[in-house]
Amino acid sequence: MDGYVQIAKSDEVKERFAISVIVNSKKIAVFRYKGTLYALRDSCPHQGAPISDGYADEGFAVCPHHGWKFKLEDGSFSHNELSKIPTYDVKEKDGLIFLNTDDN
Ligand code: FES
Repeated sequence: MDGYVQIAKSDEVKERFAISVIVNSKKIAVFRYKGTLYALRDSCPHQGAPISDGYADEGFAVCPHHGWKFKLEDGSFSHNELSKIPTYDVKEKDGLIFLNTDDN
């Protein structure tokens, strides 16, 4: 798993919630939704709130401050798909979670 860094144990990321981690100086929110993990930049483009304090709903990460929504799969803003926040590759293996920030 070249480029991947271990960030947490699997049971630390609860369904519909997130943890926040810093990898390579990037603050990243890791959500679990329907069992799958998703990683997005942990800073809302509206006013910079940590998205990791929000929750996952219907395939979106919901910002805790004013409710802006970002698609978990690609970070696109629900009201304008051309506006995106960075996403990252995340993997789960043997009860551990690994993150790769090489491309973003
Ligand atoms: S800071 Fe995220 S919606 Fe306002």
